[in-house]
Amino acid sequence: MASLEIGVIGGTGAQGKGLAYRFALAGHKVLIGSRNPDNAQKTADEVNDRLGVPAATGLGNLDAAARSEVVQVAVPWDGHEEAITAIAPALAGKIVVSCVNPLGFDMFGAYGLPLTESAAEQLQRLVPTARVVGAFHHVSATLLWNHHGPLRHGSDDGVDGTVADEVAGAALDPAGDRAAVLG
Ligand SMILES: NC(=O)c1ccc[n+]([C@@H]2O[C@H](COP(=O)([O-])OP(=O)(O)OC[C@H]3O[C@@H](n4cnc5c(N)ncnc54)[C@H](OP(=O)(O)O)[C@@H]3O)[C@@H](O)[C@H]2O)c1
Repeated sequence: MASLEIGVIGGTGAQGKGLAYRFALAGHKVLIGSRNPDNAQKTADEVNDRLGVPAATGLGNLDAAARSEVVQVAVPWDGHEEAITAIAPALAGKIVVSCVNPLGFDMFGAYGLPLTESAAEQLQRLVPTARVVGAFHHVSATLLWNHHGPLRHGSDDGVDGTVADEVAGAALDPAGDRAAVLG
């Protein structure tokens, strides 16, 4: 598997950090993005400490996207449109993987919002030339970081090979189906 540079937008969060760790475990370079580059570097240091090799670097979100071949988006739905708009030029023409769940939160916890487009669809509208893939929506950050066994992931016609083999293939186990399930 070729080594890629994979940017993780919102990579300081639990989900982005977990995905960054899995991508790096599979031999990829990871550019962890944040609105604050210092925080991004702290998370990169944490990932590198866990890996034992310097595979992760922290950057601002725009730099992380611009310098990456593939971009993973891991920001909350609240702020998604603004975050994507801010880095849209750097996403043009790239494979962009989104794990963003459009959720609201109240005193009882998370709930699905009544939307007319998914986060991936919104991303595609904001960056028409991006090759958008929805993946990892059902994979918990805890499991990613603690690396409990193989994961299976969804796929998408057209970009399946690249995402499955080069990105999601990072410590994940291709299933060939469209449902993200735990293996
Ligand atoms: N947590 C999970 O187990 C899990 C599982 C599946 C899918 N997901 C999805 O993955 C995404 C990230 O989840 P998470 O739990 O890691 O979220 P999170 O910790 O709330 O946020 C991730 C990062 O996004 C950045 N961020 C926060 N608000 C932002 C805003 N308004 N605009 C731009 N950036 C903002 C922050 O980084 P900086 O402050 O450093 O910029 C934060 O560290 C969500 O869309 C969630 O639905 C999460």
